[in-house]
Amino acid sequence: MVRSLDIANLFRSFGGDPQRYQEFEAPEAQLHETVPPAAPLPQLAPRAPVIAIAELATQPEPGELPPLSRELAQLHSSRQASQAVAALDQALHRTLPALTGPVLALTSARGGTGKTVIAAGLAQALSRSGQPVLLVELDSQNVLSSLLLQEASSTTGSTRAPLSVRLAVDDRLQLVPFGTPDDLDLQALEQALTTDGQWLSRRLQALEVPADTLVILDCPTGSTPLSRQALALATRVLGVTTADATGYASLPRLERQWQGCTAQANPLHLLNRVDPDRPLSQDIAAIVAQAWGERLLGVLPESPELEQALALGQGLASVQDAWARRLGELGQVLLDELRPTVRHAARS
Ligand SMILES: Nc1ncnc2c1ncn2[C@@H]1O[C@H](COP(=O)(O)OP(=O)(O)O)[C@@H](O)[C@H]1O
Ligand SMILES: [Mg+2]
Repeated sequence: MVRSLDIANLFRSFGGDPQRYQEFEAPEAQLHETVPPAAPLPQLAPRAPVIAIAELATQPEPGELPPLSRELAQLHSSRQASQAVAALDQALHRTLPALTGPVLALTSARGGTGKTVIAAGLAQALSRSGQPVLLVELDSQNVLSSLLLQEASSTTGSTRAPLSVRLAVDDRLQLVPFGTPDDLDLQALEQALTTDGQWLSRRLQALEVPADTLVILDCPTGSTPLSRQALALATRVLGVTTADATGYASLPRLERQWQGCTAQANPLHLLNRVDPDRPLSQDIAAIVAQAWGERLLGVLPESPELEQALALGQGLASVQDAWARRLGELGQVLLDELRPTVRHAARS
């Protein structure tokens, strides 16, 4: 009686309903039953702490590694693989010819400025005009094969090891897609880039690019280990910015990124998506033209055709509007500047 009243009060003071409470009386015998002494714990064989932690978390099937230890084991073997690749790269480096041709790197401080479509458009226009081009995708978004290859099948841009295949787009244009590495491959790449400042340079050397070929690097957005290595080996750098308020605001960051370029790279600006129907876009174009002077390579218009082609998965070859024409013209300007380098490299 007293116990039930106490419990009812308790329920009320915590806002509960005492009617929903039922008391179970345990049989007398059970209450006095003695708990049998615990069996001695089996002695665990000493193991690596990784396995012990993983065993606490999950109960694996016999013969199967639990997920955490499996991941760590994969990471370990992936590290070993990347060390082996680095050692191989270093061994190759002793025999590989240096990269002698011109290297154009496309950079930006923000994503979505048009770097990748411009890299692809330039590569396509210049190769059609007779210039051999090797386009290298350094951005893990891995979209270049779908922009340039009509039959981009699951095999074309979907190799796991980053930058490991070279595809022929046509007679004069070759593409090295980023590929589709998984998280472990990406971690291994990041580690290789951190420990080996020449990683990209070696990877390009291993491709044995002829000296008369223009290498175009589509860099990741912002300052990353891969974009810094790209800038360090570029002989020409192009920064792509959109003609809007956020693009304009990102310019100081872009110019800070360029501090990693060599003196000869002489970075140039390219203003993309200038919209004749938007006064702000026009104003920004006028301001940067004035401020940048010779450091502005040119201006590209907004291209509804480009957006439509990409939305329909048609690839860049179908885009033949003012944007594509102007890009082709700017590509020729760049090439004329780079030509002495191309000729010199081809002779030496
Ligand atoms: N001049 C342009 N007109 C219309 N759309 C554009 C233009 N430039 C780029 N885009 C679109 O902007 C998006 C981002 O372009 P992308 O090349 O992937 O940028 P980034 O490589 O700098 O991240 C794409 O959908 C592309 O079609
Ligand atoms: Mg991109």
